[in-house]
Amino acid sequence: MIGIETLDEFIIRRQSDFPYAQGELSRLLRDIGLAAKVVNREVNKAGLVDILGSTGTTNVQGEEVKKLDVFANLRFIGALKLGGQSCGVASEENKSFVTFDDEISKNAKYVVSLDPLDGSSNIDVNVSVGTTFSIYRTVSPSGTCSIEDFLQRGSEQAAAGYVIYGSSTMLVYTTGKGVNGFTLDPSIGEFCLSHPNMQIPKNGKTYSINQGYFIGFPDGVKEYIRYCKEDDKATNRPYSLRYIGSMVADIHRNLITGGIFIYPTTRGSPKGKLRLLYECNPMAYIVEQAGGRATDGFNRILDLEVTELHQRTPIFIGSEEMVLNAEGFMREYSSRVPKRGK
Ligand code: AHG
Ligand code: MN
Ligand code: MN
Repeated sequence: MIGIETLDEFIIRRQSDFPYAQGELSRLLRDIGLAAKVVNREVNKAGLVDILGSTGTTNVQGEEVKKLDVFANLRFIGALKLGGQSCGVASEENKSFVTFDDEISKNAKYVVSLDPLDGSSNIDVNVSVGTTFSIYRTVSPSGTCSIEDFLQRGSEQAAAGYVIYGSSTMLVYTTGKGVNGFTLDPSIGEFCLSHPNMQIPKNGKTYSINQGYFIGFPDGVKEYIRYCKEDDKATNRPYSLRYIGSMVADIHRNLITGGIFIYPTTRGSPKGKLRLLYECNPMAYIVEQAGGRATDGFNRILDLEVTELHQRTPIFIGSEEMVLNAEGFMREYSSRVPKRGK
């Protein structure tokens, strides 16, 4: 296609960014792209096939599991196993990590952590959902895959990305050399480069938070929300409140238009709701690579120590100046500054 660069072509062209790369990471990214196309096909037919609704079970998080959660989980794990470039996968839908013990995979250099379907509550009502993934080089001896491979700080990620199944389907990823977005062209079944070198605006006029939990928010968040609602034309306030309920969709919007997404501690989620390993770390890596900022209100997300697979953290992520401003309210109104990530 003249002028159009597919994901595969882009990955191969950019492989030279990594002189020692023998193509494993490239093939791993392409395996993820393939699984995303398969999941996209089901998301787009949802309503016509038996993929909506709940499975009637709950996952390790105690959350209701939707049929599409299971379908997406199986497709991504299956594609990674078949691709042979990773020796194991940690998933939101699995209590522990899955290892691939076949000859090719067991010596693979990478592990993947993923949320196969982010925004499950939106599946049945036709609102955008997503997939998030993190790729790490293994730290355990070749031929083995252990929990240490997954419990690495976000700053150690080799690559991270997300898929958003929305009005169009996009795959956005980084390998530490900027952020690039690819839009799926269904007529040729390829992700094509549509958003080269994505940069998040330094400031914005949108804040994204579930204000239904206002009562249980930290005082710093309550004061920041009051700030967002004040009338001050000079600083583009009041800001607009946009909250989709799919973290991927909320952060993707802010990546393009500028804005801040906050999921703080709440009465129901005293450590925050979003998971560090496969939601916050990948999105933090991408937003930082696009010139934004991501913290837990005090500490950089990518520096937080990872002690368990499904560990949760508060997250303040988006336009650098907005996140810095919100952190100012957290410091000013929070007597106890949690010391984490040390
Ligand atoms: P998941 O569907 O993978 O469990 O993730 C849902 C997350 C995130 O996508 C979203 O921002 C948040 O849950 C919404 O939570 P609330 O419904 O509590 O606002
Ligand atoms: Mn999620
Ligand atoms: Mn999920």
